[in-house]
Amino acid sequence: VILDLLRAEDLEAALTLSTAEGWNQTAADWRRILRLGPAGCFAARDGGRLVGTVTTTTYGTELAWIGMMIVHPELRGRGIGATLMGKALDHLQSSGIATVKLDATPAGRPLYESLGFVAETAMERWQGVPAGVAPPQGRPDDTPGAPFVLDRSAYGVDRTSLLELLLADTAVDPMVNASGSAPPTGFALARRGRLATYIGPIVATNPSTARQLLVEALTTFAGEEVCLDLHQGSHLSGETLATHGLSKRRVLTRMSHGPRTDSAISRAICASAGPEFG
Ligand SMILES: CC(C)(COP(=O)(O)OP(=O)(O)OC[C@H]1O[C@@H](n2cnc3c(N)ncnc32)[C@H](O)[C@@H]1OP(=O)(O)O)[C@@H](O)C(=O)NCCC(=O)NCCS
Repeated sequence: VILDLLRAEDLEAALTLSTAEGWNQTAADWRRILRLGPAGCFAARDGGRLVGTVTTTTYGTELAWIGMMIVHPELRGRGIGATLMGKALDHLQSSGIATVKLDATPAGRPLYESLGFVAETAMERWQGVPAGVAPPQGRPDDTPGAPFVLDRSAYGVDRTSLLELLLADTAVDPMVNASGSAPPTGFALARRGRLATYIGPIVATNPSTARQLLVEALTTFAGEEVCLDLHQGSHLSGETLATHGLSKRRVLTRMSHGPRTDSAISRAICASAGPEFG
């Protein structure tokens, strides 16, 4: 098995790997990940066959996110996952990135712990079909610069390049919470997934804005399958999600490697941009 860069022509096979895991990513998701980090996404190949992937997305030089860590089921337990992870970490170190984070599945967590990652918080996957509960309460985004400023202060690092791509690709109107000329107190995005529409990120500076954004999103998608990764301990509670017909499906562990920072774990980060992005 050899390791090299993941390329556009690998993405069909990469989607086959993530689909076999039951993951929600689409071909568009894979393209977006590769576009954000073409020099930091790696492939494991057995002959001509793609048998493993890992991706990295960098936010400035302070933080990078690792995602899409998959090894073909037939080839697990032979060190391919550890080698892919080493390749990703070497790449990030040589790019001068200080801290690396990821959202670990139970299958990935032992590997990451052995490499020095430590648990920081939990992300709960909630999924279901929301019933229509209330009319939309937010308003369309007429202050396009504002979500970036809000996100930067809430998340702790600059995610503009990711948010720009999510905004460009969004299948729904972004939801921004603001009144009059006041700066927004929250925003939410959503995109179509393979199995469910993925709501996220949801960023809000207080619980009532978080709830309002969530209700607006659930109303927008009433009757459709949706999912989101709720940040446990954030301004958004699981109770609100349960009330609207969603149920908790699994828990991912948000883990960190390198100098500790509060980026990606403030209470204002209510729902993830995706396990692959943080
Ligand atoms: C997680 C995954 C990528 C690991 O790939 P892999 O090639 O099997 O991993 P490796 O063989 O390199 O194992 C690395 C180390 O982790 C340990 N490990 C791997 N999977 C483990 C598990 N399920 N439970 C306990 N330890 C595990 C191995 O024992 C090994 O430690 P060692 O070198 O001290 O023996 C693979 O199991 C996978 O694709 N899982 C499904 C997708 C997924 O959940 N990915 C993680 C997303 S965060």
